[in-house]
Amino acid sequence: MTVQKSVLDLISRLQIEHHTAVVFISHDLGVVKCIADNVLVMQQGVAREYDSADKIFNDPSTSYTKGLIACKPENTNKKYRLTTVDQVIYGETLSLLRPPTNRNDGQVIYRVEGLKKSYGKRASIFGGKSEIIKAVNNVSFEIRKGETLGLVGESGCGKSTLSKIITGLLIADAGVLIYNGVDISGYSMKDWRQLRGRIQFIFQDPFSALNPKHSVKKVLEEVLTKHQVSLNKQERESLCNKLIIDVGLSVDSLYKYPHQFSGGQRQRVVIARALAANPEFIIADESVSALDVSVQAQVLNLLNDLKAEYNLTFLFISHDLSVVNYMSDRVMVMREGEIVEYGTAEEIYTNPRHSYTQKLLDSVY
Ligand SMILES: Nc1ncnc2c1ncn2[C@@H]1O[C@H](COP(=O)(O)OP(=O)(O)OP(=O)(O)O)[C@@H](O)[C@H]1O
Ligand SMILES: [Mg+2]
Repeated sequence: MTVQKSVLDLISRLQIEHHTAVVFISHDLGVVKCIADNVLVMQQGVAREYDSADKIFNDPSTSYTKGLIACKPENTNKKYRLTTVDQVIYGETLSLLRPPTNRNDGQVIYRVEGLKKSYGKRASIFGGKSEIIKAVNNVSFEIRKGETLGLVGESGCGKSTLSKIITGLLIADAGVLIYNGVDISGYSMKDWRQLRGRIQFIFQDPFSALNPKHSVKKVLEEVLTKHQVSLNKQERESLCNKLIIDVGLSVDSLYKYPHQFSGGQRQRVVIARALAANPEFIIADESVSALDVSVQAQVLNLLNDLKAEYNLTFLFISHDLSVVNYMSDRVMVMREGEIVEYGTAEEIYTNPRHSYTQKLLDSVY
């Protein structure tokens, strides 16, 4: 958010200095609202609406634009599901309640203490000193069973490094990891293999996360044979069908390949793959950041539905504060490898105590 704000400020400044016209293309409505004089709304190759930004955002004339504005997380009370664009287009104005979360009396699923990870940066061939980047610097927190813990912070603050350590994809330099009461700090990559089924990762870029040569069925079956070994062929078959329907895709999607899906559909395939391992804890690292607001609303609703149905716990990572606020029970704010603020989503968003949190909130459009 802070990086975005400085880039937008720069564009605006250059535009004034050089008297330049700018065509600014984005799926982020907040940014468009802030930067544009006039707005063109496109859908499926057709110009739906073309007017002043003021008119478009305050008095949109098409249901598509109305839907785009309605489906943004900051326009929804957390008790309700996100409105989808289709709902607005087809005139369904009913606000549906979000499924209740399964609270397990604050039982801690994961406890992390004093976690540290540095990367050595070699001096470049052009000289300069080598330096150490403290990507994760003395981080401690706990995740309670059934909750969604949000993690926000600007690009490069260490979010992905932290999530890779707690999923065993990266070994920490120091610190203690306690998963379901068991000290797993000393686990080798091999030891981690037995935990992989319990802890799953949903990546940012679903395209690179899927093998382009494997059909969805093959992707899911691979996970099922590895992590749910007791199933026979027939049980695997019916579970593949259930998973693909649970994530809102049709059964014939099982026979398709990654390139045959849209971005939002591919994200659903990656979610189905994570569920196939029958996990209890899921880490979603920027998993909706590449999606436009209407698809994002569908995927966020889906994650909350699945969380209730499969009794999941989430670590939800994003640089989008309104998305994190909507999704999370509690939120951690990370800056340069450290957690600078940690509390309920409500506390953090209505009464931020740290100046950095304030700065992040101020950069939201
Ligand atoms: N493999 C690596 N080698 C060296 N430095 C790295 C490596 N991976 C990450 N870093 C550095 O560590 C810091 C934290 O990176 P990380 O990917 O955890 O950030 P992030 O918060 O996930 O950022 P983003 O929001 O852009 O995804 C950054 O300064 C990054 O340049
Ligand atoms: Mg990252």
